[in-house]
Amino acid sequence: MTDAPLPTRTLGDLEVPSVGFGAMVLSPGMYGEVDEDRARQALHAALDAGATFVDTSDGYGPDGHNERLVGRAVRDRRDEVVLATKFGFRVPEGAPAHRFPVGYAHGELAVNADPRHVRAYAEQSLRELGTDRIDLYYPHFPDPEVPLADTVGAVAELVDAGLVRHLGLSNVTAAQVREARAVHPVAAVQTEWSMWRPADPELLATARELGIGVVAWSPLGGGFLTGTVTALGEGDFRHNAPRFAGEALARNNDRYAPVRALATGLGLAPGQLALAWLLAQDPHVVPIPGSRTPAHVVENTEAARIVLGEETLRRVDEALAAFEPEGGTLL
Ligand SMILES: NC(=O)c1ccc[n+]([C@@H]2O[C@H](COP(=O)([O-])OP(=O)(O)OC[C@H]3O[C@@H](n4cnc5c(N)ncnc54)[C@H](OP(=O)(O)O)[C@@H]3O)[C@@H](O)[C@H]2O)c1
Repeated sequence: MTDAPLPTRTLGDLEVPSVGFGAMVLSPGMYGEVDEDRARQALHAALDAGATFVDTSDGYGPDGHNERLVGRAVRDRRDEVVLATKFGFRVPEGAPAHRFPVGYAHGELAVNADPRHVRAYAEQSLRELGTDRIDLYYPHFPDPEVPLADTVGAVAELVDAGLVRHLGLSNVTAAQVREARAVHPVAAVQTEWSMWRPADPELLATARELGIGVVAWSPLGGGFLTGTVTALGEGDFRHNAPRFAGEALARNNDRYAPVRALATGLGLAPGQLALAWLLAQDPHVVPIPGSRTPAHVVENTEAARIVLGEETLRRVDEALAAFEPEGGTLL
């Protein structure tokens, strides 16, 4: 480890460390239990290591739990942090929740991103986070019953009002990026992307063309790519994920062994190789790994300093081409 600042990247005009921190893991109902003390330690480990780009959402944990947790942990260090949050899941009382199917564990999710509610969402998140500005604000998912341009128009008003600095989009298609960008500049698109889950090539090409950064969620494949997940505990949502379920997990670990061996040969933890590989895919991709464990947070953040050479990347890509995980979707 060194004290040198982490390398940075840009998401549109927003400068962030090239590896951030995803806080979802710190709320109950996701990757197992975690108490406030442990969550605070993990967040402080992230900030101390330089992963000062922190990602949360109004939808993580019950009733704004994750935003409150993040808010309490970063309150005294607010100016060090690029704070990103998302909206749409804490549907206001009396408003309809618009359901839509997703290809992973829950099967279906529900949001309301009606422009009439967007200011109230932001004010709620600002209260929970204990801050006066959100650095990067995303509709968490496009609302199936509201034109994305209308939702984005409401975020643009928040930018004008100084409550939000930059607009992000999460879980969108390339066409939706263009639709949103016609209304307001987009700093980042957030999408699932990791060694075992390719991102949509059209989305990536569009982001590149338009100077939009890519925030990679679940960059460690929900932990699998660290090579340490051999069994799941209670209260872990991955029980519902086909790649982790039953005997598929053991078989997937066997199939992943050549990539793990490559990492070991390079003197890296497998998760670090997974993050460094992502960083090598695009100069504007920023992974946001999550962890409840300070040592893991430091290990992940240090991946920001790893530059894989051409020959190493070729070997990794060769191993990945032969790695076919069992179980169609991840989370
Ligand atoms: N936009 C969206 O719809 C969306 C969806 C999902 C996630 N996200 C964002 O992406 C962030 C990251 O995704 P994620 O948490 O689902 O997946 P992830 O970062 O790929 O994996 C998290 C898991 O990896 C384990 N882990 C992390 N570092 C490790 C290490 N060095 N060694 C061993 N195990 C390690 C963690 O366990 P320990 O706690 O034991 O370290 C945890 O179980 C989230 O926090 C959230 O902010 C966004």
